[in-house]
Amino acid sequence: MLYPPAAQVCLCAITTDASEGEPMFEIVARQDFSDVTYLLEVSHPTLAKAARPGQFVIVISHDRGERIPLTIADFDREKGTVTLVVQAVGKTTRQMQQDCKVGTKLFAVVGPMGIPTHIGDVKKVVCVGGGLGVAPVFPQLRAFKQKGAYVIGVVGFRTKDLIFWEDKFRNYCDELIICTDDGSTGMKGLVTEGVKLAMEKHSDIDELIAIGPPIMMKACAETTRPHRIKTIVSLNPIMVDGTGMCGGCRVRVDGKMKFGCVDGPDFDGHKVDFDDLMSRLRRFVGEEKLALEKWQEECRLTSKIEPALSAATASKRAAGA
Ligand SMILES: Cc1cc2nc3c(=O)[nH]c(=O)nc-3n(C[C@H](O)[C@H](O)[C@H](O)COP(=O)(O)OP(=O)(O)OC[C@H]3O[C@@H](n4cnc5c(N)ncnc54)[C@H](O)[C@@H]3O)c2cc1C
Ligand code: FES
Repeated sequence: MLYPPAAQVCLCAITTDASEGEPMFEIVARQDFSDVTYLLEVSHPTLAKAARPGQFVIVISHDRGERIPLTIADFDREKGTVTLVVQAVGKTTRQMQQDCKVGTKLFAVVGPMGIPTHIGDVKKVVCVGGGLGVAPVFPQLRAFKQKGAYVIGVVGFRTKDLIFWEDKFRNYCDELIICTDDGSTGMKGLVTEGVKLAMEKHSDIDELIAIGPPIMMKACAETTRPHRIKTIVSLNPIMVDGTGMCGGCRVRVDGKMKFGCVDGPDFDGHKVDFDDLMSRLRRFVGEEKLALEKWQEECRLTSKIEPALSAATASKRAAGA
């Protein structure tokens, strides 16, 4: 048994008071993978102990911040930390990119949430991560390897410069297929090309896990469907409370309504209505654009945005990217 027997530990770890004893949700490490992707290692021993592969947290970065769901991309029970990998896509994730530095604290974190990924007794598994999805698929991949499965990793990036965690993946993969859209390294093409290659080489794949943009997960599910390979995807619908109360994260699976936060985030990829998911993700595009513009204007007035972006660029240059 790799993890304590509880199928799901629901821990609500919230702090709003930094003066209470040990530092809570302190950012103890940060790494910038690119101008838009950054890693935060957050200290919280209880959260690190409770976290399981496939689970997520809801983060509020400051006292007036909104709640955003982020996958637990890694956890270290000995160090008492959890790792989040974030892509700066809108107001909150960009604000966090600017403000979350080593030594600062997140205002509140709730989790771990969601049903952990079922790590079954499979012999051969393919774990697919596309772009940012590479980070959240890592805990599953490691758990399958630790359980004795033959693990094939397939990771996809737009270009060579955006690759991260290659060594981490190599440590746990029996085979690793790297795909780049522009062919700058590895196989040229989308992750589905890597999945096809794995299927050509191995006729005995038991399961495939795919995490990434909905269009990528849909393409992976369509690639495995004719071969009847069990395909699990991790869905990212818009979430608000994360407790099954607000209904914001409704997804259609096998013709039935499910809630991504409490019934997922993992679902059978062959049964997910991805078109419905993608259209629901676009519901608030106007409001999101306005919120970002308003925040950027505030930043310009207080000239805060430039130093943050140049810090990310400097860190990338220092890393030789
Ligand atoms: C279970 C789950 C796990 C996730 N894990 C990660 C992760 O590990 N790393 C990461 O970078 N992102 C992750 N996301 C997506 C992340 O939550 C959104 O990118 C973030 O909320 C965007 O907020 P914003 O204000 O920066 O951008 P906004 O401009 O508000 O939104 C940009 C886009 O993000 C999506 N989004 C907006 N609000 C939410 C919300 N409350 N919940 C979900 N999606 C939203 C929408 O598609 C929207 O068009 C995850 C989402 C879910 C549901
Ligand atoms: S986020 Fe509200 S029901 Fe899932």
